[in-house]
Amino acid sequence: MLFRQLFDKESSTYTYLIASGVGREAVIIDPVKTQASAYLGLIEQLDLKLVRAIDTHTHADHVTALGDLRDATGCMTLMGEYTRAECVSDHVSEGETVDVDGVHLKALFTPGHTDESFSFLLDGAGEREDAVFTGDVLLIRGSGRTDFQGGDAYKSYDSIVNKLFTLGDQTFVYPAHDYKGFTVSTIAEERRFNPRLAGKSAEQYAQIMRNLDLPNPKMMDVAVPANLACGQA
Ligand SMILES: [Fe+2]
Repeated sequence: MLFRQLFDKESSTYTYLIASGVGREAVIIDPVKTQASAYLGLIEQLDLKLVRAIDTHTHADHVTALGDLRDATGCMTLMGEYTRAECVSDHVSEGETVDVDGVHLKALFTPGHTDESFSFLLDGAGEREDAVFTGDVLLIRGSGRTDFQGGDAYKSYDSIVNKLFTLGDQTFVYPAHDYKGFTVSTIAEERRFNPRLAGKSAEQYAQIMRNLDLPNPKMMDVAVPANLACGQA
């Protein structure tokens, strides 16, 4: 399997490019608009054909590259069924699988950070452990804020504890962001060491989230409307 974790320094966003091998069809998850030409260069070098671009949710901290990648490659743009982005051509619901030339991604509805967030579980197909792309719902030793865009701490807790934490222990966790330099974790690790969740009740988690008191993201007023138009508003 061809698997690339790409990083946008400006927004600390991770983007994932996945294909079953060089020369095959590919899917990209959570691409950033300012990095679009870098992705296209890599896609060309690896002789890939981009057929799907996915956003896990409507991002508030960077502008998505979905629209630009669709224009450049003709790929389908995809989000979960509850997105308000009308520019997206393809939608998935809970349990549905996105198949791209031997790559299988199962859609998991994981609201909480936003009310329309999905995670995507990559089937390792016996070649590697499964991996879950959690967007901002579950981060490494943290979790995405729940105070805007229909966020809800109780839903976040439920998505993480009752859905993501039921995945296999060794499932890799690949979030959409990291601010400390961590690149990957596992479900077992997060279940045990995530300070917001390990041994915490839903009420305790909600209290932690309430007390975060975060400023709005710098780009929020630009990014959210832009992303409802696939980054082309
Ligand atoms: Fe987000």
